[in-house]
Order: sequence, then C-alpha cells, then structure tokens
Amino acid sequence: MTLFDRVFGGNDAVYGLTEGAIDGAIAQYGEDKAVSFPNTAYSLPCYYAVTGTKVTTLKELKEALGVVKTLMTREKRLNDAFMSGVATALCAEFIEVLKYIDGATPYEEPCYGHLGDAVIRELGVPLVTGDIPGVAVILGAAPTTEEGVALVKSYQAQGILVTLVGGIIDQVAEAGMKTGANVRVIPLGKDVTSVVHVVSVAIRAALIFGNVTPGDAGTLMKYTMDRVPAFVNAFKPLDDVIVACGAGAIALGFPVITNETENIFRVPKSLIVQEDVSKFNATSLEARDIKIKITNIDIPVAFASAFEGEIIRRKDMQVEFDGSRVDCAELVHTCDASEIEDHKITVIGPEVDEMEFGSKNSIAYVVKVAGKNMQADFEPVIERKFHNYINCIEGVYHTGQRDMQRIRISIDAFNAGFRIKHIGEVLYASVKNEFDAVVDKCEVVIYTDPAECTRIRHEVAIPIFDKRDERLDTLTDESVDVYYSCILCQAFAPSHVCVVTPERLGLCGAVSWLDAKATHQLDPAGPCQIITKERPIDENLGSYEDVDEAVQKFSQGALEHVTLYSIMQDPMTSCGCFECICGIEPFSNGVVIANREYAGMTPLGMTFPEMASMTGGGVQTPGFMGHGKHFISSKKFMKAEGGIERIVWMPKELKEFVADRLNKTAKELYGIDNFTDMIGDETIAEDPETLVAFLTEKGHPALGLDPMM
Ligand code: SF4
Ligand code: NI
Ligand code: NI
Repeated sequence: MTLFDRVFGGNDAVYGLTEGAIDGAIAQYGEDKAVSFPNTAYSLPCYYAVTGTKVTTLKELKEALGVVKTLMTREKRLNDAFMSGVATALCAEFIEVLKYIDGATPYEEPCYGHLGDAVIRELGVPLVTGDIPGVAVILGAAPTTEEGVALVKSYQAQGILVTLVGGIIDQVAEAGMKTGANVRVIPLGKDVTSVVHVVSVAIRAALIFGNVTPGDAGTLMKYTMDRVPAFVNAFKPLDDVIVACGAGAIALGFPVITNETENIFRVPKSLIVQEDVSKFNATSLEARDIKIKITNIDIPVAFASAFEGEIIRRKDMQVEFDGSRVDCAELVHTCDASEIEDHKITVIGPEVDEMEFGSKNSIAYVVKVAGKNMQADFEPVIERKFHNYINCIEGVYHTGQRDMQRIRISIDAFNAGFRIKHIGEVLYASVKNEFDAVVDKCEVVIYTDPAECTRIRHEVAIPIFDKRDERLDTLTDESVDVYYSCILCQAFAPSHVCVVTPERLGLCGAVSWLDAKATHQLDPAGPCQIITKERPIDENLGSYEDVDEAVQKFSQGALEHVTLYSIMQDPMTSCGCFECICGIEPFSNGVVIANREYAGMTPLGMTFPEMASMTGGGVQTPGFMGHGKHFISSKKFMKAEGGIERIVWMPKELKEFVADRLNKTAKELYGIDNFTDMIGDETIAEDPETLVAFLTEKGHPALGLDPMM
C-alpha cells in the first residue's frame, strides 16, 4: 500500500459514512431541516471557508457533499492526496454538524466538541503576544497513560494550547488531570471526526483575523500555514481514516508527528516518525518552528501561562488572603537605587505553615523597583501584571487588584513546598524578565503581619492609588502630546492598526495609553510607536494628518484615513479580538453593543458572532466597530455621532459592568441621571419594535437625534 492508497481509502470510507449519515438525517427530519453549528457566524466554518457557500439546511448539506466529491480526485499526485485530506475534514464537519440538529448538546463533560467564535477571538491576544506559543492536536491513545499525561503536561508547561481527540482523553482523566479551556487542555471528543473542531478554529482564525475571502482556498491554506502555529501528534496504530485526516492537516501547513512505523511514509517537515514519545514535544516544536520563552523561577511548583485560568476551590485550599475582608495591598513602588538590594525577598509576619488551615489572612506585597528609565507612569502597568504572574503559579489563584486582591494557595501546592516567599520569587523574576528595560533593581517585601498590612494599606498604598487616580482623571486626549499605535495583532490581521489614546484604549481591552507608552519605552522598535497629533483636520471626528500618515505606514498602505471618534466615517479597523462590538440600530437612530461573553440575540437580529463577522481582519466597515469595554464610558465614544447617548441596548451583564462609569459620563455630558436605566437589554427587548417602545417610554435621547445613515 502506498500513502496515496491509504489517504484515498480513508477518505472514501469517511465519505461513505457521511453520505449515509446525511441520508439518514433527511429521512428522519426532512430535507428542509436547519443545520448549523452554534455560536458561530459561519454555519459550517470549514466548508464555508473552502467554498464560499453557507450551508443552512440538510438539502444544502447534501448538495455540499457533491461539491466535496469533486475534491476527491484519484491521481497519485501530492496535491490530490492533500485535497482528499481536506475533503475528509469537510466530511468530518458534516458528520459533526448533524449531531447539533435541533439545538442538541451532543458533547458532555469533559469534552467540548464545537468551539464558538468567541473562543477564537479570546485567543487572539495570547497568540500574538506569544503567551500561547502554539496549538497541539493530540490524537489517539499514548502507549501508556504516564507517557500521554507527561506529553500533555509538557505542552501545558510551555503555555501551548492542547486539544485532545480519542483515547488520550480517557488517559488524562484516569490520571486525574484537570482539563478545560481555563488550563489550556481541551478534550474535543472521542470520535476521530471531532478533530474537525480544532481545524475549524484554525480556519475561522483566517476568516476572523485574516480577512480571507470565503472560497479562496489557496489564500486560506497559506494563511493557516504561515500564521497558525498548530501541529498534530498522532499515536499508533494509525488507521486509514486518521492518515487521511493527517493529509488534511498537512495541507493546512500543520506537521504530523507519529510513533507509527508500519506502513507509513515520511514526508520531510510534514509527516515525521518519532518512535520515542518523550521526544514528541521537541520534535513538534522544531517541525513547526515554535520558540518557547523560558522564565526560570526557583519555586517548587510549575509556573506557566497555561495555569493562568486555574481555579482553586474552597475544599482544595490550604489558606487564603482576601482584601475584601481584611487589609491587603499590592504595590509597585519606585525607589532610589541605593535603597534597594536586588533580588532580596523578605517576609514580615507568619509563613503559610504558621497559618491555620483554611484561614483567611492579610497579605501586602511591595515590589520596590529602581531604574534610570523608570517612570511613575509605569508603576500601575507593572502592578497590573501581578495578577497574571501570580496566577501562572500552579496551585495558586489570584483575582482583583490594588487593595482588593484575593489569593488562594492550594493544599497540593502547599504540600509541594510552596510558601509565601515564593510569591516574592515569582514577582521578582517576572518583573525583571518583562520590564528589564526600565527596572534595573528589584526587591520584594511581603507582609503577612496583620498590623503591618493595615499600615501598608492605609498609610502607603491608598495614598499612592489616590494620586494615580487623580492623574488618570486628568489624562485626556487633549492633555497629551502624543498617541500610540499598536500593531501586535498584525501577526494575525496583517493590515490592522490600533490607535491608542488616553480616552480610547485598544479594542482588545488590554492596551491602555499608559500600557502603550510603557511598551514603547520597553521596546522602542516594537509594536507601539509614537503618533504625533500636531496637524488636526477635524477635532470633532478626531482626524489628524499625523494619524493618517501613521496608519498608512503601519498598515503598509492598506488604510488611508482613520478617525478616532466616528463609527461612520473612516472608523478604526478591527483585528478580530475585540471585547465588544457596536452596530447601528436604524429604528432608534442608536447603536447596539454586544460583548464577547453574550450568547443571546440582539435587537439587530444578530448574535455577537454574527455582528462580529461584519468587521475584522483590518478592514473598515462603517456602522460596525470593535472596541474595548472601558471605551463605552468614554467621552470620546462615537463622539462625532453624538456620543454615548446613542447607546440604546447592551446585554444586562455588560450594562451592569459599565453602569457606574457610564452614568457618570452621561451626567457630565448631558445632565442625565441614571442613563443606564434608559438602555435596553435582553430582558427588555430582543427585537427592534419592543426596543423602540421601551426607549419611547423612557424618553431615550437617541430617538431625537438625526439618523446616522
Ligand atoms: Fe491588538 Fe489593538 Fe490590542 Fe494591540 S491594542 S493587542 S493591536 S487589539
Ligand atoms: Ni482597614
Ligand atoms: Ni487583535
């Protein structure tokens, strides 16, 4: 048997199953039955991306199968094998979508099955920053449970997102390993067809961030090859179906590493035989050219970004610290170099051993820094990273910030020897590692003595926080001399540029003007560059010759004009990883905003994924704009169209999240009290008629404004 025979044979087998499954579904439901994956704007994303056709019914699915058949040519050429691999993936997608008919939820814990568009948007920032350096797809059962778990853990420790298909899922469960998107280990499903759910993620990345035109299969495959750092680890025995799926993976640019030696054919850089499973990790990273940032920290538990989302439940916790109940604080404090002894870590007060099991305690840590290039403006930027740093510790959980942080240390971490002083080690190493351009010396003092915590909180930290807040309040677009560009997301959205100003943070929500300023200082040739604002064109629109020149340059000519304050005229582009999207609602002259977490319907007749699919990939779409959550309460939010009084609807949860700040801005700008009470949400209206009736009753100001179109 040649590799061709195996790919073609596997493809034919899956095709036969697919045809049978579709015919069976038509017999059961009739051919007009609706089919689509949930929480996506792309129906069957893989088929849509490859052909440009959106399948909506079983009848269309059957027709689509005819199109798939045309890809299944049988010449013994590499391209035929690749296209048969793609056809196999499309068949798998068809089989999988049938499981979702009638809103069914076919996957049960711990398996995920289909992943919604929002998950992909969330992955945008960690992928571009290298926080997630790659995506591993592990197929089948490892020779032993220990080897399988060790492989998964090795990727997890590197921050790599791991997806599991088939036997490995049971092995990981048997070993009692925690899985889930929050720890970056995602069991997809036990059938081999469930592998299409990760293929679908890669392909939607091309649609969402890459602005790839659906149907342009060539550009699609180039995008996934160049920009999606995925690879496959397939355990023996490989049947022909898996070999055919592998051909599909290779067609998308994802190398396949296997320990199968029988009846397999090596393809350099693409199909690699590695008999030693303990070397799968190294072989895979080399094949995909993935570089891992190493932070060596001397602590008794693992430290990796994959643990950032890990949650420690009360029953698993040794002790906790809770700023909402007792005095706590976290602080970066700039000192003179002579006052600091580099890498000195001091604990003042009891260690974890001396705390009662399950108790609630005080903690305050002051990270003293010194450096020639250090500025007070960078203190909050560094401080905000503490949350990520402490969360990356395996078995330690952190939420909140400033004097409201909460930390839990798990029983497992404690038993492994983790102590308070190790928090100091983590803070020291992480700050020195990430902020080396501004921090020359760093010392950490951790207080657990309750009286000392009270003193630090009230006499040191709070006065500093108050001062910073005053500074933030006076930071307006008018009060600064420069804005900053951010092009981090160009790794996925090649022509996208964010213009970050004090009153308009990056659309991902993660880059404020202060962050951009610090990033520029840390890496002067990096993603954030200074944009001057000396030549305004129209202050109301927020257009500047300087800004236009900068976006032209940083988008390599893809963009000519960008305004800062309009969603209708030359709005800022979106990469795809925005926290929120707003879109115009013509019946009320207003805009509807939806956030990534919102799963329901909006009065535009679109869900978040559908609204989000209107913009992205660095293109301008007047009427739709991606933005960060904090931008909603900004005085600059679509100022050119009248500002926040255009907001007519938001999901309830988002409305509550922004309420205080939004109400304050509405009071200042228009003298309106409790503005959020006038804004609709899903409990009030999911269609425009009900919404307008509600707005009329409340006397919402948008109704009296000029139409936007
Ligand atoms: Fe991406 Fe813009 Fe956020 Fe930068 S500011 S990371 S370009 S979304
Ligand atoms: Ni107090
Ligand atoms: Ni982005």
